[in-house]
Amino acid sequence: MPRTLDPELRRALAARIRYYNEMGIYDFYRRPLSAVAEDVSAPVAVNEGEIAVSMNQPESGEEMSPRKAAVVAVPRAIDENIFEVIALKPEQSVSDPVKALKIIREDLGDCTRCVLHKQGRKQIVFGVGNPTAELMFVGEGPGADEDAQGEPFVGRAGQLLNNMIKAMGIEREQVYIANIVKCRPPGNRTPERDECATCSPFLMRQIAVIKPKVVVALGAVAAKTLLAMNASMMQLRGRFYDFRPAGVRVNDRSNEPRWDGCKLAVTYHPAFLLRDPRQKGEAWKDLQMVMNELGMKPPEKKDA
Ligand code: URA
Repeated sequence: MPRTLDPELRRALAARIRYYNEMGIYDFYRRPLSAVAEDVSAPVAVNEGEIAVSMNQPESGEEMSPRKAAVVAVPRAIDENIFEVIALKPEQSVSDPVKALKIIREDLGDCTRCVLHKQGRKQIVFGVGNPTAELMFVGEGPGADEDAQGEPFVGRAGQLLNNMIKAMGIEREQVYIANIVKCRPPGNRTPERDECATCSPFLMRQIAVIKPKVVVALGAVAAKTLLAMNASMMQLRGRFYDFRPAGVRVNDRSNEPRWDGCKLAVTYHPAFLLRDPRQKGEAWKDLQMVMNELGMKPPEKKDA
């Protein structure tokens, strides 16, 4: 039976290989596992059926220190080609982002790629907003209101997100809003890792079309999926990450301005802030960091 790579590890490997490819490095040589164990910097095929790769590993249980590195040996998928993920996507042959997003939506179709399609979703919630937005917000997955209306963040959490966007001095229509999974998980449960892994490639393609300057990951599910790392919100917040959408080749069209990825910031999910409003100040700090990056000023306070 073919063995498959863990989707997060697969994404991390693909990103690492793309990084090397972009530096002009295409060849990877096999070395004995013992030699690789001392080198924490490169992905190398070590034995038939195994790949050794340097990546952050959990120190214990769920949490992972972003600063520590380790080497792991994992089964290599016999039936999978990890280079496949850098193939050009159909939307990359068009320059109009509206058309490109439409192509991605059409590619998604009446999606049945994961179990969420048969667990009571009413419709796919693709994403909404400015197709050339400088700022993108990514949540976890649609709730009941979003499922009913086909638009992300239209329920209570959405109202709070709208207020957060307003506080930044901009309108909801100026940004692009999407989720990691496009179908409502039953009972608003957290999407499973395989559901995130199946759905997020479409989001990655959306991001590559929109080419934002900053992506804000709302909550741990969005942050961990986009960054392909496992860490607590405390570890993830308060800094920018250099982000490039995994599995999508960019800058293939010489007549378009280069886009070398963007910054990614992590903040609390609005639904969490509704449950614990004391954290709103912390979320505002995150948004101020984003505003600073984008050269935005908050609206002047009107005199009472
Ligand atoms: N929560 C999310 O993560 N996304 C939505 O669209 C709505 C609520």
